[in-house]
Amino acid sequence: MATKDLSGIPRTTLPDTSLSLLREGYVFISSTCDRLRTDVFRTRLLLRPAFCVRGADAAELFYGSDLFTRQGAMPGTVVHLLQDFGSVQMLDGQEHADRKRMFLALLEPGLIDAFTSTLAEVWDARADRIAAGETIELYSETNRMLTEAALRWLGLPATQNQVGLRTQELAAMVDHAGTVGPRNAWARWIRRRSERWAGRMIDMIRADVLRPRPGTPAVLIAEHTENGRPLDTEVAAVELLNIVRPIVAVSRFIVFAALALWQNPQWKKEFAGGDLSRLQPFAQEVRRYYPFFPLIGGRSRRPFTWRGYRFPEDSWVLLDLYGTNHDPRSWADPDAFRPERFVDREPTPYDLVPQGGGPFDSGHRCPGERLTIATVETMVRLLSHTDHTLPAQDLTYTMASMPALPRSGLLISRTHG
Ligand code: HEM
Repeated sequence: MATKDLSGIPRTTLPDTSLSLLREGYVFISSTCDRLRTDVFRTRLLLRPAFCVRGADAAELFYGSDLFTRQGAMPGTVVHLLQDFGSVQMLDGQEHADRKRMFLALLEPGLIDAFTSTLAEVWDARADRIAAGETIELYSETNRMLTEAALRWLGLPATQNQVGLRTQELAAMVDHAGTVGPRNAWARWIRRRSERWAGRMIDMIRADVLRPRPGTPAVLIAEHTENGRPLDTEVAAVELLNIVRPIVAVSRFIVFAALALWQNPQWKKEFAGGDLSRLQPFAQEVRRYYPFFPLIGGRSRRPFTWRGYRFPEDSWVLLDLYGTNHDPRSWADPDAFRPERFVDREPTPYDLVPQGGGPFDSGHRCPGERLTIATVETMVRLLSHTDHTLPAQDLTYTMASMPALPRSGLLISRTHG
């Protein structure tokens, strides 16, 4: 088939659509695609030429091969607060495969079970507080609970002081990743404190001053070797944060899961009654339906052809994660919350992409996906068994705020009578 000239790709009328992205948030790429009747359009973001793509085919293009590197593909303000430079996400080829092996080893099923058991223990204290009549704000409480569970699971000191400091730092990294200006600068400043802490943890394990049980994730990171050498302390520290920060970020899915339980009480009743057979479909629908990362960027390492167009090397491509999860070609009635859709259906590697797509063991798909699902399942089960209600509050969230969260942070308290 003859390749078409790139000038045939629909363009936005505005020369730079950064403000539209900020204003429309999660739906920016999809709504623009709908308007231009296309799955790919050209625009400029932050003055840089970009191709925005959506849908399962686009996810396959993005995640189905090693065509895209993450180097130079996201603004530095975002990269610093999330994966950071030197991390697995910034690597390609064999280096990436070696580092990814480490993540997959410390996120294997036995260790995931150990994490969710620790989380259930940590939850007990909150359940007691709710039973005693206290109203808790689920978002801040889950940030703290997940931090405590993660530190204990990793094999690191989890005193209340440590948990408090780390919760503040880790939540700030995710909360402010989508911001610019002083709030982003503050979060980056506070991140450096976490990096120093993580570096100290790695050094202390290597010097045998801190002795977590063998096989705990912090030991696996401290002992991981590449080309026969351990990771530099700074790199090991970044990767330690790349475990604990996203674990804490699961709090947003937990808040949305609690909201979904409240708005769909038949599911709460089913789980409270002990029938957990549809717990996983429920967790999958939470990941599909609710907004988290809007998009992900990649830079092409060589020229490629897609939909008949020949793209040059170094093309900046932004894959619409949210829009792909809401694409009506993959998901009937995509804007309805319907866990049933996952009962007889396994998602393909490319149609459900809140945490990236493609194969698990290669490429950049999130290695924490199974832990995320297990964590959401655990909290849905625990919440269903906890007598609670949502007092009057503002449960709305805006699609322009990335990452999104209900405005109230989700207050929960004991039901009366
Ligand atoms: C809150 C839920 C989570 C979301 C929404 C999420 C989202 C994502 C996304 C979209 C990617 C793909 C990035 C890309 O294509 O470059 C990714 C990669 C990654 N995630 Fe997650 N993630 C979550 C939880 C976790 C957890 C719990 C962990 C670890 C315990 C984790 C660790 C990572 C790492 C290390 C990568 C980089 C993988 C690579 O480049 O090969 N994530 N995540």
